[in-house]
Amino acid sequence: MNILSPSMLSIDFNNMGENLKKVHEAGAEWIHVDVMDGSFVPNISFGPPVIKFVRQAVPDAFLDCHLMIDEPARYIDDYKAVGADMMCVHAEACKHLHRTVQAIKAAGMKAGVALNPATPVETIKYVINDVDMVLVMSVNPGFGGQSFIASQLDKISEIKKLRDDMGLSFDIEVDGGVKLSNLKDVLDAGANVIVAGSAIFNNDIEKNVSDFLEIMK
Ligand code: DX5
Ligand code: ZN
Repeated sequence: MNILSPSMLSIDFNNMGENLKKVHEAGAEWIHVDVMDGSFVPNISFGPPVIKFVRQAVPDAFLDCHLMIDEPARYIDDYKAVGADMMCVHAEACKHLHRTVQAIKAAGMKAGVALNPATPVETIKYVINDVDMVLVMSVNPGFGGQSFIASQLDKISEIKKLRDDMGLSFDIEVDGGVKLSNLKDVLDAGANVIVAGSAIFNNDIEKNVSDFLEIMK
């Protein structure tokens, strides 16, 4: 099943609640929540207090929290407490990735692992049986509105092949630079969870969501 996960990094924060409701009611089942700490990535965004508000604004949306922070295991209880459904951690940011994945699941959330553009698929070989999602970063994390790195299409295909060969069923998410113009390419490569920030929240939000969903049918 294909799922749209609009990244609220590009939302108009003056109208955050209203715009979250708009994308969700237009058919985006997930909300992609980009948490940045100014250390793992060169930007700072928001954390649990904002997520608590997001949870209230769209109570039945799936909160897909993308943690671009060092050692996210330190905050598992905090994310659970504010209503996160998924904690997706970077393989590069965890000294003990396997332990972190287990701890997220033990806390009752879905566990995802994200890979930076230069990180090979082999990095997650020994946690792949345990994850609910693999996130392929198609930009270097830190900012919205960057250009898609085309080499990541091969990485998506490689992960899909590995998943199918192993008989697994985790989701494959793509994040960064996804637009209407390259959406078909990422779907064809094997991604089924589509993150888009600027392409959804700039201009007409409802039209953007429906244009994306039309191609994702
Ligand atoms: C980048 C974030 C992305 C980003 C997507 O660090 O993880 O979610 O906001 O934004 P666009 O779709 O504008 O590239
Ligand atoms: Zn993201």
